[in-house]
Amino acid sequence: MLRGHLDAAYRILFLLRLDCKKKEMALQNDELSKTLLQSQAHIWNHIFSFIKSMSLKCAIKLNIPDIIHAHGSPMLLSELVEALAIKKERTQSVYRLMRMLVHSGFFIKQSIPTRNVDQEEEEEEEEGYLLTPSSRLLLKEDALSLRPYLLALLDPTLMDPWQDMSRWFQNDDITPFHTTHGMSLYDLAGKKPMLNQFFNEAMASDARLVMSVVLEHCRGVFQGLDSIVDVGGGTGTVAKSIANAFPNISCIIFDLPHVVNGLVGSKNLTYVGGDMFEFIPNAKAVLLKWIIHNWNDEECVKILKNCKEAIPSKENGGKLVIIDMVVKQVDEGDNELSSLETQLFFDMLMMACLTGRQRSEKEWAKLFLESGFSDYKINPVLGLRSLIEVYP
Ligand SMILES: C[S@@+](CC[C@H](N)C(=O)[O-])C[C@H]1O[C@@H](n2cnc3c(N)ncnc32)[C@H](O)[C@@H]1O
Repeated sequence: MLRGHLDAAYRILFLLRLDCKKKEMALQNDELSKTLLQSQAHIWNHIFSFIKSMSLKCAIKLNIPDIIHAHGSPMLLSELVEALAIKKERTQSVYRLMRMLVHSGFFIKQSIPTRNVDQEEEEEEEEGYLLTPSSRLLLKEDALSLRPYLLALLDPTLMDPWQDMSRWFQNDDITPFHTTHGMSLYDLAGKKPMLNQFFNEAMASDARLVMSVVLEHCRGVFQGLDSIVDVGGGTGTVAKSIANAFPNISCIIFDLPHVVNGLVGSKNLTYVGGDMFEFIPNAKAVLLKWIIHNWNDEECVKILKNCKEAIPSKENGGKLVIIDMVVKQVDEGDNELSSLETQLFFDMLMMACLTGRQRSEKEWAKLFLESGFSDYKINPVLGLRSLIEVYP
């Protein structure tokens, strides 16, 4: 009798355990499916991240921000299609492109009342597109427009090396850019006037923007200087803004001959062509904006040593002014993850197209020490970039 009860109890216990096990497995399967689908979504998001930049490029090439800006008020889809002068059948495609760019924060939609054609009195709500601060910065006519930068960086010349990056990992080429084009970016720019022009325009557009902030918030950096040489200064946008703001500073723009040939200076502005690996003209200070990140450590030490030769001692006012990125540490408690991601994008860009990299403070300090400089000061006032003063 007792035995019979015990058997029944064991059977129930067994069944209960079986049930638990099944539930546990179902739960595990649920977790597995969830992880599987999340991973798939993660992969999809990465595969298609290029759609963000390509959609933006498409809108810029169609002048969509300029058209909406000229309209002056929220612009209906139908009005946008008409202004684009494209076939009406493309309306849904324009809508889908705009939906993507609204999602990415380049446009916003605002409700506007429109008159119902059938019942004249009644009003219906429709939505019109407006610019955001980011798309305003891509207008052709904006004084600080980054449109040239976008078009240059998304040009096939600079995009193709990404297709060759895995090949480059397995070959001996200097950069993926070499694998694609057979030479360095700056050598190719010296051979192709179109590339030279759009690359220089891209740099000039960045220079206009960053110098507007530098002259607003960091004027003190230039106070007391009587001369400055902008090494790799492109077509002179940075130096021109310094020369205008400080008429007592004589500014030299030093860059490769194919960049500065034919450019004419002014009262306190001179263009000099040359190679910074060989010689840098003398001045009280050297400016290096977006130069050091183009080169590997060995090349940087050469450039920095030449800079040191070009300036007087710290006591006599000599210094370097560097505008470049100081990469955050991943564990710096960064709540702006996207800014670290953008810095990492720039680091990868340097790997694809040049020999350079983005550096952490520790890596910058090592370069300065190796090149014979005694001290430096980092001022993180330029968004993702910093203004660094370096003393002999
Ligand atoms: C990334 S761009 C920066 C231009 C400018 N400093 C700016 O930020 O607007 C690098 C510049 O370095 C110049 N450059 C490259 N190699 C050079 C060399 N060996 N000597 C002098 N300039 C060089 C390029 O022509 C280009 O203008």
